[in-house]
Amino acid sequence: MTLSTIWDRLDAQAGRVSARAIATLFHDRNRAAAFSVRFPGPSAAAVHGEEMLFDFSKTNIDEDTLELLIELAIAAGVQARRDAMFAGRRINETEGRAVLHTALRNPEGKVALDGQDVMPGLRETLLRMRGFAREVRGGGFVGQGGAITDVVNIGIGGSDLGPAMACLALAPYHDGPRCHFISNVDGAHAADTLKDLDPETTLVIVASKTFTTIETMTNAETVRGWMAARVSDPGAQFAALSSALDRTADFGIAPERVFGFEDWVGGRYSMWGPIGLSLMIAIGPERFDDFLAGGAAMDAHFRSAPLRANLPVLLALVGIWHAQVLSHATRAVLPYDQRLARLPAYLQQLEMESNGKSVTMSGQDVARPTGPVVWGEPGTNGQHAFYQLIHQGTQVVPCEFLVAAKGHEPELAHHHRLLLANVLAQSKALMEGRGIEAARAIAEKAGFVGDELDRQARHRVFPGNRPSTTLIYPRLTPRMLGQIVALYEHRVFTEGVILGINSFDQWGVELGKELARSLEPLLAGGARPEALDGSTAQLLDFVAAVRLS
Ligand code: F6P
Repeated sequence: MTLSTIWDRLDAQAGRVSARAIATLFHDRNRAAAFSVRFPGPSAAAVHGEEMLFDFSKTNIDEDTLELLIELAIAAGVQARRDAMFAGRRINETEGRAVLHTALRNPEGKVALDGQDVMPGLRETLLRMRGFAREVRGGGFVGQGGAITDVVNIGIGGSDLGPAMACLALAPYHDGPRCHFISNVDGAHAADTLKDLDPETTLVIVASKTFTTIETMTNAETVRGWMAARVSDPGAQFAALSSALDRTADFGIAPERVFGFEDWVGGRYSMWGPIGLSLMIAIGPERFDDFLAGGAAMDAHFRSAPLRANLPVLLALVGIWHAQVLSHATRAVLPYDQRLARLPAYLQQLEMESNGKSVTMSGQDVARPTGPVVWGEPGTNGQHAFYQLIHQGTQVVPCEFLVAAKGHEPELAHHHRLLLANVLAQSKALMEGRGIEAARAIAEKAGFVGDELDRQARHRVFPGNRPSTTLIYPRLTPRMLGQIVALYEHRVFTEGVILGINSFDQWGVELGKELARSLEPLLAGGARPEALDGSTAQLLDFVAAVRLS
């Protein structure tokens, strides 16, 4: 079958099942097991506590749909593209680059790029990172005022979101200096972060793949100034993470504290290497290794598991079904895990910068909507905010729940029980809803009668039939976080291949950067070009008036 025939059949399938109640699918007693996948497999899991269960049975996907979706993945060439990525082919065609972030988490593996073994360089950097992290943690590397108490990572996008998300996620494993993150060029971010820090015991890490990003370089200069006011040799308390080693030297950072990586590591895929240094310092090199091992285990699974039992592939196919077949424009990621509070923001970059494209690899317009818009917040907080729309609004928002079976606070086990009860309740409520009869009974009990009873009852109806998936895992350990992040990376990759787009470039961020460069002088009073649009001119006027007042 050709790709377009499969898409057509999926559309027809959507038409056939759209009115079907998901709950009725559970008449098949085997549905939950059949529409779930376990990673890495029951026997190994029992030993390592690393098992994940991805349950997509509370969606309207049935056996016929799943078969079509798998045929879609095969026809789109997911397996061949995956193998090309792992083999170091230049699959990022618009930038002429290979995509080898997976090599970072498999340091003992073998990868050649254009016949050149990339592993010795990568291993050497990893060893240097470990050595430096141990020194910072153990007091071998000190600031002017003694042992390092705080680490500030300055970076943005992929040079911030990954380590910031992971540092929060793995808080129970922190036994190194405290970690802080400055990303926004808004001076408030630097000011608020630095206010309680001691420059004499702070290590600053400037994280930027290109070392040209204006936000990062502006913050780096500001923080260097802050440090220079108290520290005689501020450069000695700076480290850099970058692929632009000439620029880190120009900034004055000594080569022994520069950790480089190659252009085959995309920014949003870079936390596995030097960009993860702040995380390594916080949790220690051994636990960082566990994080890498989790990612590597997911890679091995992605490469070898049959598509029908392949966790990233199935996560991707559920995404394609909801966004590209059923046209649900957004997807909510809802971690019932406070420490995954930054996961939605991390996934926004991973998914939307990767797959927010309109042109296929071959330069044609895409045939289907790309995306979707990814958003979310931890539960249970979201329940008291935006879940109203998810339950009773007019648009369907497929929900992706994540939760650990066990927390890190045994003394607060009753909190975790409540957390679990809530996540289970939400997916059930979304699927089953509440019909008019049950709603009438509730309104009647509240004392309403006659027309008022009918009116009140309608407000208490939940349409139900709203799809959700649940990813459940034993505990959020470093290894588990590695598995989760790699899972989402491969999901994004698989969706990108199915859509025929390049998930590894990001030309869409360029125009705004260019315009910011040309507008900044106007804010400093520079002459305005005649062609300046009226709205921008008006906004500039407003700023000028406030300045004068
Ligand atoms: O502008 C987008 C982007 O290039 C992201 O892709 C990247 O993660 C971020 O900026 C930061 O870039 P750099 O690490 O080069 O400072």
